[in-house]
Amino acid sequence: MRILFEPLAIGAARSLVVRNRFVRSATHDFMGNVDGSLSDREFDLYRTLAVHEVGLIITGHAYVLHPEGRVRPGQNAIYDNSFIEGYRKLAGIVHEYGSKLVLQINHAGRQVDILTKEDVWTPVAPSPVTNRVTGITPREMTEGEILQWIEAYAAAMARAKAAGCDGVQLHIAHGYGLSQFISPHTNRRRDMWGGSLENRTRILREIMSRGRRLVGDDFPVLAKLNTTDGFAGPEYLTLEDAVATARILESCGVDAIEVSGGMKEAGDVMSRKDINSQEQEAYFSGAARAIKAAVSIPVILVGGLRSLSVMESLVTGGVADMVSLCRPLIREPDLISRFRNGQAKSACRSCNACFNPGGIQCPYK
Ligand SMILES: Cc1cc2nc3c(=O)[nH]c(=O)nc-3n(C[C@H](O)[C@H](O)[C@H](O)COP(=O)(O)O)c2cc1C
Repeated sequence: MRILFEPLAIGAARSLVVRNRFVRSATHDFMGNVDGSLSDREFDLYRTLAVHEVGLIITGHAYVLHPEGRVRPGQNAIYDNSFIEGYRKLAGIVHEYGSKLVLQINHAGRQVDILTKEDVWTPVAPSPVTNRVTGITPREMTEGEILQWIEAYAAAMARAKAAGCDGVQLHIAHGYGLSQFISPHTNRRRDMWGGSLENRTRILREIMSRGRRLVGDDFPVLAKLNTTDGFAGPEYLTLEDAVATARILESCGVDAIEVSGGMKEAGDVMSRKDINSQEQEAYFSGAARAIKAAVSIPVILVGGLRSLSVMESLVTGGVADMVSLCRPLIREPDLISRFRNGQAKSACRSCNACFNPGGIQCPYK
């Protein structure tokens, strides 16, 4: 357990010193104001996590382009400078209690959850591949729109820095915009943005290049990376391509990689249900091991971590440098303090009832 409470420094200048190895994985909380700004409920939620010693808190995904980038109403936004002030306040709250704040940035692409009556646009994506959950076929992006995404991500990185966040995380997972580029299932383009892995990752390299020019070399940039779409077969993302993508991310200046997987159409691959034994925990540990062997930047593992002893063995065994939790911190926002005081395991039942449109909450609390 001791190693989990030891600090870790992230970033080229090792400027992001996290007090322990516990990460709150990005969690959309369904509590944002309708205009995308942070609500008082959200300030309270993050305060509680910081008070209870979560070392690194990653925000829920904030969307970088309005309106097409939004997954659903009530999602937090970072598409223009008016949102900086809210994140400045949030960073201040988190810092007051010794935690660090990383802003996760995202574009929905084809994976738009709800199109309301006001949503008159057609989702855009690398290729017009019908979403089997929503039935929506996105419009194929023009090259101009790809360049617009690159600018939008870079600008969001700069806003995170301006707000005093400790870093930013590119969301390249769970079937959202950037992961749609790296998966051959959703990216069937024949131009320089599709085809080979080199081409499918071009947008990531361009975002890093443009973003680094705005934030400099020392501002920590993390990535949450899909290691599977959640479907087997050569038409989907392979672990081999994910490992190669991790290498590419490291070489273009990403400072840490959080290992995840899944997309909406694959069901509960991202947040697996019914984790009732230690053997069922850490369901992306094989992928993390492969990525850890390929890169020298810190690797963060998420997905089904419930027992302190499992988390410890992942870090001491060199599978990951940090452990990341989502549902356990919805069930017990004070879990890290509880761990330090002797609790051995999260009480989370992995039932996924916490996905609550009225605001995340655990029905068993
Ligand atoms: C309510 C809820 C909201 C989530 N929102 C996000 C998000 O905004 N960004 C993200 O990368 N992952 C999101 N996830 C996925 C989690 O960060 C995490 O990868 C997944 O739940 C597995 O970890 P766990 O077993 O600790 O819950 C969300 C999961 C849940 C349950």
